[in-house]
Amino acid sequence: MNNGILITGGAGFIGSHLVDILLKRTKEPIYIFDNFSTGNQRNIQHAFSSSQVQIIQGNVCDRNSIEPLFEKCHTVYHLAAAVGVKLIIEKPVATIETNVSGTETVLQLAKKYKTKVLLASTSEVYGKNTKIPFHEESDLVMGPTIRNRWSYACSKAIDEFLALAYHHEFGLPIVIVRFFNTVGPRQTGHYGMVLPRFIRQAMNEEPLTIYGDGTQTRCFGYVKEAVTAIYELMQKPSALGEIFNIGSQEQVSINQLAKLVKEVTQSSSNVEYIPYEKVYGPHFEDMKDRYPDTSKLFRFLGWRFSIKLDEIIQESFEFEKTHNSSFMGKTRPQRGGRRRRTESYAEEPDERERSIPHN
Ligand SMILES: NC(=O)c1ccc[n+]([C@@H]2O[C@H](COP(=O)([O-])OP(=O)(O)OC[C@H]3O[C@@H](n4cnc5c(N)ncnc54)[C@H](O)[C@@H]3O)[C@@H](O)[C@H]2O)c1
Repeated sequence: MNNGILITGGAGFIGSHLVDILLKRTKEPIYIFDNFSTGNQRNIQHAFSSSQVQIIQGNVCDRNSIEPLFEKCHTVYHLAAAVGVKLIIEKPVATIETNVSGTETVLQLAKKYKTKVLLASTSEVYGKNTKIPFHEESDLVMGPTIRNRWSYACSKAIDEFLALAYHHEFGLPIVIVRFFNTVGPRQTGHYGMVLPRFIRQAMNEEPLTIYGDGTQTRCFGYVKEAVTAIYELMQKPSALGEIFNIGSQEQVSINQLAKLVKEVTQSSSNVEYIPYEKVYGPHFEDMKDRYPDTSKLFRFLGWRFSIKLDEIIQESFEFEKTHNSSFMGKTRPQRGGRRRRTESYAEEPDERERSIPHN
């Protein structure tokens, strides 16, 4: 019987939040498939007790280990990928192979078992395009192949081409989402993600390390809104064959982000500027600004991302304090004004992912 939902990369940051919303919205079996390379058992620990959830360790590129799950599932959320600029620079072969061959395997099996597919792509595919905001039909402007940072964007772009080709040639039901910077509790700074790294540095009173001059701008979207968006898109037949930007439109420079983190965490850390080359090697290229046009998402769902960045930072900070054993509790007395949220997130997932204003 194919009454289940498969999440590849379900032990990762976004995948684990998707598990939470599925547990609330459906009674169907949920299969988490992950090789735990960047994902973590702790992210899904709270789901262990649910008889609805099964966790299977395996490599998404290995057809034999994942095929039995397609027999049981009507939908696959394909999130498994090599993620994070640091990882991509350090392990380019694994990045390209996981992202291309993993998606190829998923699409082949989805065709065989008539499974509906959500493909997780990225705002990185817009590459060096300088015309913001990016809308779904904007040009993708990649750097040269000798700069391996572009291998992530190119591998995701190939995934998109392949998914669209399966849709047009074989009628495979697919939805493609391009996540912009997605943040919140459980995200780790180990693979180059800026916000969890800043929070960790602020908590330890270490300098907040800004790569480049910090004037580059990004939009940081709340993970629970992101998973709500992808879940709701998958319920809409009109979304099939479409691509969607998924993210917030609250634009901040990395300098402003560092300032906000210092404020929320009440840290006296300094800010330190590090040239890109020192972190990622010579000739590293970054994008100056990344800003999504989310009007298509609004047209389909009737709501936009609305949780403010300072609230997300606050929640991520609280999560780190509760879950990070290396942090020695260097919190200061709370200054007035800011709301403290102190629940143990993992045991008690937040209800906010659906209290989104419809504006
Ligand atoms: N977080 C963001 O800001 C962001 C932005 C753009 C796109 N995305 C995309 O969203 C998806 C989820 O990203 P995330 O932020 O949760 O990252 P993550 O690293 O936390 O999650 C990826 C998960 O995939 C698993 N995985 C990796 N290779 C695998 C393999 N070969 N077989 C099985 N599992 C494997 C990892 O262990 C991890 O649990 C990815 O496809 C990523 O490209 C994320």
